[in-house]
Amino acid sequence: MLEEVVKSSQPLPSSTKILIFGAGYSGQHIAKVARKLGATVLCSRRNIEKAGADFEFNSENKTLISDTIMENVTHIISCIPPNKLGQDPVIQRFKKILKKIPLKWVGYLSTTGVYGDYQGEWVSESSLTSPRQERSIRRLSCEKEWQSLGLPLQILRLPGIYGPGRSSLEVLKANKNMMVNKPGQVFSRIHIDDIAGAIMHLINFCSDGIKHEIINVADNNPANNVEVLSYAAKLLEIPLPRIESFEIASKHMSPIARSFWQENRKVSNKTLCNILGYNLIHSDYKSGLDDCFKSFNQ
Ligand SMILES: NC(=O)c1ccc[n+]([C@@H]2O[C@H](COP(=O)([O-])OP(=O)(O)OC[C@H]3O[C@@H](n4cnc5c(N)ncnc54)[C@H](OP(=O)(O)O)[C@@H]3O)[C@@H](O)[C@H]2O)c1
Repeated sequence: MLEEVVKSSQPLPSSTKILIFGAGYSGQHIAKVARKLGATVLCSRRNIEKAGADFEFNSENKTLISDTIMENVTHIISCIPPNKLGQDPVIQRFKKILKKIPLKWVGYLSTTGVYGDYQGEWVSESSLTSPRQERSIRRLSCEKEWQSLGLPLQILRLPGIYGPGRSSLEVLKANKNMMVNKPGQVFSRIHIDDIAGAIMHLINFCSDGIKHEIINVADNNPANNVEVLSYAAKLLEIPLPRIESFEIASKHMSPIARSFWQENRKVSNKTLCNILGYNLIHSDYKSGLDDCFKSFNQ
């Protein structure tokens, strides 16, 4: 919940001006929190008509972007995925100016898909990256592009993002009669409150310089899909959907849905929580789903 993130974060100096490239689901939440904490925030979306868009940026067309947008910017957050060639859309368009402005902090939202498959073992930021999916190979190449610019950068590697309006509650509502079981398979997750909360914490923490360039942002409890959906069903007070084995269910899955089940890893948050001292707002899916349930439209 927005109020909880704001309550647990430090105010930002009034000179803080944050540009959020790609303010979709996570970006909008980050923007709301940062504004409440005192920052000026400008958000891009691909179409200026979309909710929460302050300026239009679509890497696939040539819309002119006013230079004034970049004036006095202190922080940049990019939530835009790689393009089809594995290039970063923000760097492609803004590389020169990014290197000129005196930025205090740059956050790049990446994915834990860059680790590849660890057969259910834990991965930390020092684990080897071995992406297998095309989208994760492209993502790793964007991480490297960002790293090459010499900016005060932190790369946030995120697992499955969820929160109000995008959680297992909606999954159950859309597909009440089946849940997929693959024994031994776990997924890590992160609630959008903790994406926003972690970013505010890192911005504050890094005012003395950046010591950790790559940070996993995940909750404490990687968990099996059936376990999470069962808890969601309990909240909704509906019977548990039928369980179908992955072998059978995967025959009807889209390639993209199937690809998520081909990798199994637990994402460690020790750097964020133990070394950098961030306190999770939702330490596990139960706390996160309880929050989603409060605003769930039955
Ligand atoms: N969803 C997950 O579970 C998950 C997990 C790990 C990492 N990630 C990554 O974390 C980031 C944030 O996730 P999210 O779920 O908040 O993303 P999201 O809601 O899909 O937002 C992505 C943003 O990027 C913008 N965008 C996409 N293509 C663009 C282009 N060619 N040019 C300019 N802008 C473009 C979108 O514009 P519009 O607002 O106009 O749509 C949107 O604002 C994304 O990079 C995502 O891939 C997601």
